[in-house]
Amino acid sequence: MHKVIFDTDPGVDDALALLYLHRHPGIELRAVTTVFGNAAAHQTARNAAMFKHVWGFSAPVAMGAEGPLNPSRRNEDWPVAIHGQDGLGDIGLGQAGAAPLDPRPAHRLIVDEIRACPGEITLIAVGRMTNLALALQEAPDIAQKVRQVVLMGGAFGRHGNVTPAAEANIWGDPEAADAVFGAGWPVVAVGLDVTMQVVMTRAGLDALGVSGGTPARMVRDLSQGYVRFYEGLVPDGMVVHDACACVFVTDPQLFGTRRGAVRVLTEGIGAGMTVLRPEGIPFPPGAWDGIPVQTICDRVDAAGVLGRIAAVV
Ligand code: BDR
Ligand code: CA
Repeated sequence: MHKVIFDTDPGVDDALALLYLHRHPGIELRAVTTVFGNAAAHQTARNAAMFKHVWGFSAPVAMGAEGPLNPSRRNEDWPVAIHGQDGLGDIGLGQAGAAPLDPRPAHRLIVDEIRACPGEITLIAVGRMTNLALALQEAPDIAQKVRQVVLMGGAFGRHGNVTPAAEANIWGDPEAADAVFGAGWPVVAVGLDVTMQVVMTRAGLDALGVSGGTPARMVRDLSQGYVRFYEGLVPDGMVVHDACACVFVTDPQLFGTRRGAVRVLTEGIGAGMTVLRPEGIPFPPGAWDGIPVQTICDRVDAAGVLGRIAAVV
């Protein structure tokens, strides 16, 4: 059984990922923590609390960071063309009820859960890494107590999706992402190199809605605008970025990996770029020295991942 904290910014593809965690028999969802990103922080928290209420999971939901670690970083516009004004495709889910939020800020809930179950928690992060960086600042001991951190973020052998250099979750708070890669906990990055290959066809999404019950129908319905956004960018369908990180936890054999120290560029036109120093190459001393070796995904059995998602949700 995997004990999981899910740090997220729902978010259309976040919704499918959360449903996967909620439905998977091998996952014990311990906490859902939210962060700004696909919408403003109060909206992503409300969206997660709505899923808790409607789907009926027991894990606490706590609201997290409203902006990046560096407050002088330009406030970003929310990606309404992708996720809608409400972050969930503007299909009227504001009318659904919502469970109460946990009173703790997200980063404190993360710290409390990791300390309560030392060595057992898998932290899955699929939004800006701000809550994780705040948790590390407040309680550096959690780096030794977490089982692993699996994040959706980065682009290691291809272009980004916000700029040519940067993937959205890293670009939105590059200082936080650099702190997360540089901490002494084991990190696996599931980035665009693999997630852009994992596209659920419209027919596959429709089939989920038919076979999967009310929550799956909700995810199918809220995903329609997101699918339209990706028309022309990928073969027909839904890019399931965030669920890929969840499937890595349950089925790591579906992914190929490389290892090396990772730094994140924080300034200039390359801000948000993730750069891996591969193991075994004798580079001269530099900014990657003393940074722990982490794992990145560079290959994926896309059909296998899609099959797991369809079987679970
Ligand atoms: C990431 O950015 C967000 O829009 C998605 O939810 C995903 O986490 C992809 O770059
Ligand atoms: Ca996300």
